[in-house]
Amino acid sequence: MLRGTAAVSVQRLAPEDLGPAAADCVFEALAARPKPVIGVATGSSPSPLYQALAASPRDFGSATWFALDEYVGLPQGHPESYAEVLRREIIEPLGLDPRTVHLPNPHTGDHQAACARYEQQIAEAGGIDLQILGIGRNGHLAFNEPGGALDSCTRLETLTEDTRSANQRFFDSPEDVPTHCLTQGLGTILAARHLLLIAQGAGKAEALRAALKGPVSRDCPASVLQLHSRVTVLADAEAASLL
Ligand code: GLP
Repeated sequence: MLRGTAAVSVQRLAPEDLGPAAADCVFEALAARPKPVIGVATGSSPSPLYQALAASPRDFGSATWFALDEYVGLPQGHPESYAEVLRREIIEPLGLDPRTVHLPNPHTGDHQAACARYEQQIAEAGGIDLQILGIGRNGHLAFNEPGGALDSCTRLETLTEDTRSANQRFFDSPEDVPTHCLTQGLGTILAARHLLLIAQGAGKAEALRAALKGPVSRDCPASVLQLHSRVTVLADAEAASLL
């Protein structure tokens, strides 16, 4: 059984403190390098962070941003595509130049080449300084579903029915939820210099327990956090209840 030796710092916080505490990590990353690189997640978990960043008077112009993942099969401009979610959640509120915000491109017709290009873009930017993460209730990180390799690169992934049903809330009907995506791999995520995981609510408690206290295993993709040398977990009391 693999056991990690990671430096995982877990902070239990009141829900209203999650956003400001996460924003402090982003400010630290922004100040550490002249051209910082921030990895951004979508979903509900990072919303308080993005609100805290938007409320700050800081200038984010020096940074480059890379999304964790993007759906395959939605038309360009679909409101639930992560390109549009990031436009609403960070590009407009933070006043970012859209050319500094990158996502894997699902519209090229060649997913393998698009994923390789994405890895290359991250490398050319100097690697990711701070990767913001949520956790799926099945333990997924980005869209890395249970059962996949723990050292994967950006690639085409098939969404599990559990993930599709969790994300159904953003779509009109179950069949509208995409079946595939392009996602940073677990190896891509592990290459970031600092990982920041935000978890809220009782629905994440078991996934967080498995990720941090269970074995490092394909059954729980987020258990790779135990293999990283610098992980900050910000969790409310419900999400941290099984730690
Ligand atoms: C989504 C995203 C993940 C996210 C996770 C949890 O499907 N692809 O990047 O972290 O599932 O989402 P939420 O924060 O909405 O619970």
